[in-house]
Amino acid sequence: MMNLTYLTLICASSLRAAASAPSGPWDDFNYAPSSRTVYPTSVYEISGDVVNADNLAIPEGDSARLSSAGSWIALDFGREVGGIISMKFDSTTSDDASVTLAFTESPLFVNPALSDDSSISAPNMSVDGVITIPAPLGSGLWTQPTGTQRGGFRYLTISLVEGDSLTLSNVSCSITFMPHVDDLRGYKGYFYATDPGMEDEDLLTKIWYSGAYTIQTNIIAANEGRVQVRQGWNNSGTIGIASPVIVDGGKRDRTVWPGDMGIAGPAAFVALDDLVSIRNSLDEIFSLQDASTGGLPCSGPLISCAAGRSDTYHAWSLIGAYNYWLHSGDTDWIDTNWEQFVAGVAYLTAKVDTGAGLLNATGSKDWGRLGGGGFSLSPNALYYKVLLNGADIANALGDANTANIWLTNAASLKTALNDALWDEDAGLFFDNTTTTLHPQDGNSLAVWFNATSDDRKKRVSEGLTGNWVDVGAVAPELPDNVAPFAGSMEVHAHFEAGEAERALDLIRLQWGWMLTTNVSVQSTLLEGYTSNGSLLYRADAGYTDDASYISHAHGWSAGPTPALTAYVLGLSVTEPAGRAFRVQPQTAGLPAAEGGFETPLGWFGVSWTMDEDGAGFEMNVTAPQGTNGVAVLPVDGEVTVDGAAVSVADGREVELEGGAHTIKTAPATPYRH
Ligand SMILES: *[C@@H]1O[C@H](CO)[C@@H](O)[C@H](O)[C@H]1NC(C)=O
Ligand SMILES: *[C@@H]1O[C@H](CO)[C@@H](O)[C@H](O)[C@H]1NC(C)=O
Ligand SMILES: *[C@@H]1O[C@H](CO)[C@@H](O)[C@H](O)[C@H]1NC(C)=O
Ligand SMILES: *[C@@H]1O[C@H](CO)[C@@H](O)[C@H](O)[C@H]1NC(C)=O
Ligand SMILES: *[C@@H]1O[C@H](CO)[C@@H](O)[C@H](O)[C@H]1NC(C)=O
Ligand SMILES: *[C@@H]1O[C@H](CO)[C@@H](O)[C@H](O)[C@H]1NC(C)=O
Ligand SMILES: *[C@@H]1O[C@H](CO)[C@@H](O)[C@H](O)[C@H]1NC(C)=O
Ligand SMILES: *[C@@H]1O[C@H](CO)[C@@H](O)[C@H](O)[C@H]1NC(C)=O
Ligand SMILES: *[C@@H]1O[C@H](CO)[C@@H](O)[C@H](O)[C@H]1NC(C)=O
Repeated sequence: MMNLTYLTLICASSLRAAASAPSGPWDDFNYAPSSRTVYPTSVYEISGDVVNADNLAIPEGDSARLSSAGSWIALDFGREVGGIISMKFDSTTSDDASVTLAFTESPLFVNPALSDDSSISAPNMSVDGVITIPAPLGSGLWTQPTGTQRGGFRYLTISLVEGDSLTLSNVSCSITFMPHVDDLRGYKGYFYATDPGMEDEDLLTKIWYSGAYTIQTNIIAANEGRVQVRQGWNNSGTIGIASPVIVDGGKRDRTVWPGDMGIAGPAAFVALDDLVSIRNSLDEIFSLQDASTGGLPCSGPLISCAAGRSDTYHAWSLIGAYNYWLHSGDTDWIDTNWEQFVAGVAYLTAKVDTGAGLLNATGSKDWGRLGGGGFSLSPNALYYKVLLNGADIANALGDANTANIWLTNAASLKTALNDALWDEDAGLFFDNTTTTLHPQDGNSLAVWFNATSDDRKKRVSEGLTGNWVDVGAVAPELPDNVAPFAGSMEVHAHFEAGEAERALDLIRLQWGWMLTTNVSVQSTLLEGYTSNGSLLYRADAGYTDDASYISHAHGWSAGPTPALTAYVLGLSVTEPAGRAFRVQPQTAGLPAAEGGFETPLGWFGVSWTMDEDGAGFEMNVTAPQGTNGVAVLPVDGEVTVDGAAVSVADGREVELEGGAHTIKTAPATPYRH
C-alpha cells in the first residue's frame, strides 16, 4: 500500500515546488491592483451642481453631493478594471431621487446617458445605455447585481436623474476577473529589460505587463459571460462547463474563442501559469465537437459559431490543446482527448485537395478579416502547425505510425504551399491562388510556424514592414485596419526570422502606441483600430461604424508578452512542463534582460547581460532539478559553464542540466542575432 504522507511530501517538495516570480524593479510596471476592491483614482469630469466630488477619489472618503437633477460625476479608476460597483447613499432630500450609472473603457465615450457598447454594435451607440438605480435609494451601501456588472471599463459616470439632491460616498469596484486568485499581483512569471536610448526605457517591460494584465481581465467565472441583448447588457451567461474560463475580452465578447487563445494561451502561461482557465476553455470547445465530422466550433457559447464555419479557429483549438499539454505536462488530459484530437486532424486532412496538395478552406470565417476561403495561406500554415504539433504528441504517446503519417503530410504541404503561393517579386506569400494580396496573418504564420525556408522568412520579415504606419502594422486582408491579433503573429514572425531588432521596432511602434494613446485605457490592449488611430475598427466589416464597441482589453493582442519571454529572454519549454527546455536569447541591441516562468515542475529563470560592444555575454539559467536543456548563445567565443571551459557545438549550443548555471563567453566576433 502506498504511503500517503510520503506521496504528499514528494508532491509538495519536488513535483510542485513553490515557485513564483521574485520581486524586483519590474513590480513597478505590474498593472494589477493590490486589492480586489479598487477605488476611483481621480475625478475625470463633473457637470451641474456637484460639491466635493474629489472625496470619491479617496478610498472610503467623505461624501460628495449632487444637488440638482441632471448633475453628474465621471470617475476614473486610473486603469482598466471590471466587476461589481458598490457605493454608499448617505442622504437625500427627496424620495424620488434616482441614479444612473454609465461605463466606458475609452475616455472618448464618457457620457452620463450612454455606456460604450458591449452587447451589440450600433452606429449611434444606442444599445447599452445606462443602468438605473431606482427610487427610493434609501441609505447605506448599495451593491450592483452581478449580472449587470461591466467586465471592462475605466470610467464610471454617476448621474442624479430625478430628485433634488443626493450625498454619496465610498464608490468602489469589486473585481470579478481571476476569481480563483486572491493576490492579483502575484504573478508566476516576470520579464524585465531596459531599453536605453528610448524615450521610455521601460517601455518593453510595461508592454509585457500590459499583456499580462490584459489576460487577467479575460479570465472570468464561467457563469459571468455575455448574453447579447437588444437593449442594455447582461453578463450572467453560462459560457463554460467549468470555471474559470479564458475569454476574448473583458468588456466583450466574454466568450471563449480558440483563435484568440493562440496568443492569449501562451501569454497566460508565461505570466500567470494559469493553465486551469485554458484547460476549461478547451474542454468547452472539445465538448462541442461534431461527432460525425470531427469539426470543432469557432467559439464557445453564447455566440453561435458552430463547427464547420472556421477552419482556422478549428486548427487553433488543436494548437491550443498542444500548447496546454506542452506547458502543463498534463498527460491525463491529452490521453482523454486524444481521439478527439485525431478526429480534429482528420477533419482538416479531408479538406486537402489531392491535386493541389493544399487545404481548401470551406469554413472561411476567421478573426474578422475578409476572404479566407479556398487555398488560403493562413489555414494552410495553421494546418501545417497542427500536423507538426500532432506528431509531437503522437510520438510522446507511443503512436509513431500516426506521427510519421502526419510528418509526411506536413512535408508535402510545405512544398505545395511554397510552390503555389509564393510571390518572388514581392518576397511575400499571396493570400490565395486567385489574388495578388499579401496578407499579414498568413505571411506571419508561415514564418512563425516554419512553413517556409530561412531565406523566405527573411524576405517576408522585410516585406511585412511595407504595411507599417505611425500607429502600427495595417492588415491588408482587412484594409485600413490595425489588428493586433495579426500583429502578434507578425511579432513572432520577425523573431523566428532572426530579425529581433525589427520585432522590437514593431512592438515599440504598435504596442507603444496602444499603451500611450489617450483614446485607450493606457493599461490593457486594444482589440483593433484603424490606420489613423481611430477606434472605428471593422467599421464596415461587422462593427457597424460603432467605435465604442471595440474592446480595450483583448487577449489576442498580448503577443509581445510570450514573444519577449520566448525570444528576448530566450526561454521556452520543448518537452511537456519543461522536462526539456531551451534558452536562445536574441539580444536585439539590449544590454540585459531577465525573467522567467513557472511550470508544474518549478521555476525556470534566465538573466543575461551583453557588453556594450556586443562581445562579452553572460547568462544565468535556473531550471528545476531533473530537467535538461540547451542554451544557444548569441555570440561566438570561448565558453565557460560554472567557471569550467566547455567545447561548444556548431550553432553555439551548450547542454545544460537542471539547477543553477552561469554561462560566459569571452569576447569574440559579435553576432547580429
Ligand atoms: C440609433 O440607430 C438605430 C438604427 O441603427 C435607430 O433605430 C435608433 O432610433 C437610433 N437611436 C437614436 C437615439 O438615434
Ligand atoms: C466601502 O465599500 C467597501 C466595498 O463595498 C466596503 O468593504 C467597506 O466596508 C465600505 N466602507 C464604508 C465605510 O462604508
Ligand atoms: C440575463 O441572462 C440570464 C441568462 O440567460 C437570464 O437568466 C436572466 O434572466 C437575464 N437577466 C435579465 C435582467 O434579463
Ligand atoms: C482570396 O483572397 C482575396 C484577398 O484577400 C479575397 O478577396 C478573396 O475573397 C479570397 N478568395 C476566397 C475564396 O476567399
Ligand atoms: C473548395 O471547395 C469548394 C466546395 O467544394 C469548391 O466550390 C471550391 O471550388 C474549392 N476551391 C478550390 C480552390 O478548389
Ligand atoms: C524548419 O523545418 C525544417 C524542415 O522543413 C527543419 O529542418 C528545421 O529544423 C525547422 N526549423 C525549426 C526552427 O523548427
Ligand atoms: C488626446 O490628446 C489630444 C492632443 O493633445 C487632444 O486634442 C484630445 O482632446 C485628447 N483626447 C482625450 C480623450 O483626452
Ligand atoms: C480616421 O479613419 C476613420 C476610418 O477610416 C475615418 O472615418 C475618419 O474620418 C478618419 N479620421 C481622420 C481624422 O482622418
Ligand atoms: C549571475 O549570478 C551571479 C551570482 O548571483 C551574479 O553575480 C551575476 O551578476 C549574475 N549574472 C547575470 C547576467 O545575471
